[in-house]
Amino acid sequence: MADPAPDFVSANLEWRARALRSVAYGTSSTPRGNQLPAPLVAERAEGAHLWDISGRRFIDYALGYGPLILGHSPSPVIAAVMAEMGRGLRTASNHRGEALLGELITETLPSAELSAFVSSGSEAIQLALRIARAATGRVRIIRFRGNYHGWFDTVHSGGRPGNDGPDTLGQDPAATASSTLLDWGDAEGLRAAIGPDIAAVLLEPVAVNGGCFLPSPGFLETAREVTLAAGAVLIFDEVITGYRLGLGGAQGRLGVTPDLSVIGKAMGAGFPISAVAGSAAAMEPVASGRLLQRGTFNGNPVSAAAAVACICHLRDHEGAIFPRIDAMAEDLAAFIRAEAGRAGLPISVLRAGSAVQVFVGRGDIARLSDTVRMDRAANAAFAGALLAAGVQIIGRGLIYLSAEHSPEDIALTKDAISQAISATAGSC
Ligand SMILES: Cc1ncc(COP(=O)(O)O)c(C=O)c1O
Repeated sequence: MADPAPDFVSANLEWRARALRSVAYGTSSTPRGNQLPAPLVAERAEGAHLWDISGRRFIDYALGYGPLILGHSPSPVIAAVMAEMGRGLRTASNHRGEALLGELITETLPSAELSAFVSSGSEAIQLALRIARAATGRVRIIRFRGNYHGWFDTVHSGGRPGNDGPDTLGQDPAATASSTLLDWGDAEGLRAAIGPDIAAVLLEPVAVNGGCFLPSPGFLETAREVTLAAGAVLIFDEVITGYRLGLGGAQGRLGVTPDLSVIGKAMGAGFPISAVAGSAAAMEPVASGRLLQRGTFNGNPVSAAAAVACICHLRDHEGAIFPRIDAMAEDLAAFIRAEAGRAGLPISVLRAGSAVQVFVGRGDIARLSDTVRMDRAANAAFAGALLAAGVQIIGRGLIYLSAEHSPEDIALTKDAISQAISATAGSC
């Protein structure tokens, strides 16, 4: 399938070897260095496709780890960015893009009256927690195992069920000590754990990172009820789900409104921008100027222009884009289940909107806490077999659809899936 380039592995490994001589781990984000059969070195990308250094074309479902809801280099975003760059890159002043973006978020995200901008999801989580602590005068937060909220010390623990400790070396244990960790979905545990010392309850309303799990009925409603009763701030981490599960994100789809929302990824269509958004009351510490919000690149004009163009496009084509990408995701999920069944390969396939998670080698993953049994090596091998067949997904088994994937892409992808399932079933 795609363009034949038999030796793409050695071409990519050659560049990796070169990078390793001057770049730590040869990459800017550790997981990118672990891709099988070789970490791809991208040369260019357009629409639903990327071309690597060998010139081979891949159908891309990793989509920059999620942001590219409109595919690579969408023309309305590129046009807005080019126009903005012609006006200069960054000043020390405010600019119109901030207000335009703030208005669009207020229009589209149910919980939003006011927004504050930063450059990454990790920073936005940090800001949201600071707002919650400023508003309540409390320190402790409740979080959930298997949710991911970025790499800053306060939230980087419990990322994998089975390990409540730090997620990597070098973290300050005191930073994570201010978190109480619960099982995601455990409404009764939340009821028991919350009290007058809790500043915030922080959660992914749909656990895409853990494996595309939807919340059990009543979980989000309980979180809403008990945070209100305890005077704690409810924070939805919608860095993935914002502008991906629909124009109103997970909260628009599921009908529960948090005090603060953290959004990122899809809002910028590939440019670095994230936001904390909330009611005027929840945002008061920032809005009043009592809380210092700092950051040289916060709300930078080029990223803001990209986000304005992206959200306008999603808003104007809402009815055409979201149902279509969800339907493509369902089609692929059903195909993977059927092919794995045919090959006798145990598999669990979950879908949340336009995101699909496969758990290769395991037919028994139904809840986030089950992922303690996930076979990471089998998932990485499956992703590697798909890459060899011309399709890129995220190595842990996550697949994102974009508005640019075409019926032809889906047909070619199904061929690649059949090949990868046969290869993986043979080695499992
Ligand atoms: C739900 C969630 N929150 C926060 C983050 C951190 O965002 P960033 O990588 O932009 O710092 C991520 C990143 O994957 C995420 O998935």
